[in-house]
Amino acid sequence: MNKPKLSIVIPTYNEKENISKILRKLNELLKDIASEIIFVDDNSPDGTSQVVESFKKKSNNIHLIRRIGRRGLAGAVIEGIFAANSELVAVMDCDLQHDETKILDMLDMFSNNNSLDIVIGSRFTETGEISEKAFSKTRELGSKFTTLIIKKVLNIASTDPLSGFFMVKKESFLKSSENLQTQGFKVLADFLATSRNNIEIEEVGYKFKNRIAGESKMSFLTAFELIGLVLSQLLKGRVSIRFILFCMVGLSGIAVQLLITGLAMLLINQFPTSQTAGIIAAMTSNYFFNNTITFRERQLKSLDLIRGLFSFYLICSLGAFANIAIATYIFGFSSNWLISSFIGACFGAVWNFTLTSIFTWKSK
Ligand code: GDD
Ligand code: MN
Repeated sequence: MNKPKLSIVIPTYNEKENISKILRKLNELLKDIASEIIFVDDNSPDGTSQVVESFKKKSNNIHLIRRIGRRGLAGAVIEGIFAANSELVAVMDCDLQHDETKILDMLDMFSNNNSLDIVIGSRFTETGEISEKAFSKTRELGSKFTTLIIKKVLNIASTDPLSGFFMVKKESFLKSSENLQTQGFKVLADFLATSRNNIEIEEVGYKFKNRIAGESKMSFLTAFELIGLVLSQLLKGRVSIRFILFCMVGLSGIAVQLLITGLAMLLINQFPTSQTAGIIAAMTSNYFFNNTITFRERQLKSLDLIRGLFSFYLICSLGAFANIAIATYIFGFSSNWLISSFIGACFGAVWNFTLTSIFTWKSK
């Protein structure tokens, strides 16, 4: 087979019913263009991979990357682009919310401009829009507001940096790929911010439609990952999204500890016991928040959830000892309680994060 001119990467999670529909549309649209379609499925429980396999048997331009024990849209898109055999790669949702006919316009734009790196399908240009049925009013407003913030804070020159629909030159993508994060939903924003001054961008407006079947995987948790992405970008990628989420949860733990210690003091008025209750409450709430937010795609359930809780208690208690030891040591020669305490806390956070990533939320 000749090298395809275009690769289309479609990340999927529980999209079984949409596979045949999107294939029909794409085959019709691309009948005169040498192309390949790469599905990246995170071993969806609904059997999406098996459906893709059945189509793969009948056609040699369909590929499947099936990932076991991993979740995450950004990582799936990155792996799909890595696997592409052509110079141009389009990325789109499987649910037909993105207008596939714009792929032809995107191809034209690349033919007319050799130095172009990426064309972004945008909901917010003059010709772009969001169908009334696609989003609730709240999500539409939320989406516009977030877009505005992201553009300003990350200094991105696109009207829709959170879009999930774009076509990129593989070579340009590879250049910044090692600095991209696999956690989260917003790989485009990450790419645009990472390669900010070195890429040429064009946009094409499209109408964001209603989902055909199945449901959106976006949830309010996506917002936390986005905050993590922004902070990580502001820190020039020196810390990962996951570590930032871990620290945010840690900060919430301080509030829990103060609240529970305060309540216990009111009730029993005994300091060490109240403080212990506060610490146990904070560790417990940290554990559950980390399990839901920070390590979402490795979330522990049923018996593993209990096993994980005890390993978390153990690791964090050792972390607390190390924190106190280091802070005391530094206080010994600096006599500055603020700096000593801060360094102790940083050490504790890194210790807890590293060891719980390895032992509590180990990847499969
Ligand atoms: N492999 C994999 N792993 N695929 C995933 C995962 C995952 O963890 N989560 C979602 N997907 C797939 C879905 O199956 C779908 O094909 C696509 O990624 C986008 O997910 P949706 O659940 O359809 O997201 P959305 O419609 O709410 O939001 C999309 O469109 C927005 C506007 O363009 C996303 O692409 C957003 O990033 C985008 O802002
Ligand atoms: Mn969608």
